[in-house]
Amino acid sequence: MLHIHRLTSVDEVDRQAAGPLISALQRRPDTVLGLATGGTPIGLYRELIAAYTRGEISFAQAVTFNLDEYIGLSSEHPQSYRYYMEQNLFAHIDLPRERAFLPNGATSDLALACERYEQQLESYGYPDVQVLGIGHNGHIAFNEPADELQADTHVVQLTDTTIAANARFFTNPQEVPRQAITMGIASIMKAKTIVLIAKGSDKAAIIREALFGPIRTQCPASLLQLHPDLHVFVDSEAGSELP
Ligand code: GLP
Repeated sequence: MLHIHRLTSVDEVDRQAAGPLISALQRRPDTVLGLATGGTPIGLYRELIAAYTRGEISFAQAVTFNLDEYIGLSSEHPQSYRYYMEQNLFAHIDLPRERAFLPNGATSDLALACERYEQQLESYGYPDVQVLGIGHNGHIAFNEPADELQADTHVVQLTDTTIAANARFFTNPQEVPRQAITMGIASIMKAKTIVLIAKGSDKAAIIREALFGPIRTQCPASLLQLHPDLHVFVDSEAGSELP
């Protein structure tokens, strides 16, 4: 079932999108959260930190799984997703790091890293609430448009558009990794609730296509139409092409 939350400002998107995560943590302290990176969820993480600082939530018993990680960057690299999570969330809350999972993109045995990640997800029963952004080409996590999509955690070749889009975070575009480990479409769809966030006019066309276009692997986000509890949070710009 699709619930669209059209909000007037980016601040309101951040506040409202944090709602399902905050209430899940309040209901069950050992909630499993699925987390995303990119520019989009930073404001949501700010809201979570604020709620934690006010004493409304604790992460002491929580578990987090991130969607993806670059291959070939160490966890101390400022553009690794582990580093991003430390900066934007983990360092400011009481989440025990042994329960903050990200795929290991710094290992030589990538197949094993993928298999282990899927097993860890399975052992915790997959996220209760999964946060998602959306790429301009319709990718979710790093599941890029293709004729076939992979179900479980796997290694991906990033497309030129994704490399170009993510180059803004690197000092030298040559440094952007060409590969990543990502949760698969089936792993993502196993989350009980999905919070999909889009902001800005550059996401308007793809968010319409994802939610109201045909369900096809060339637009991986369109598979979310099949999810039983999908909450979409858009600002007026990203929502401007929605019916
Ligand atoms: C990145 C991430 C995705 C993210 C997307 C959009 O490549 N792997 O998880 O949703 O691109 O990023 P942004 O929020 O910066 O637009």
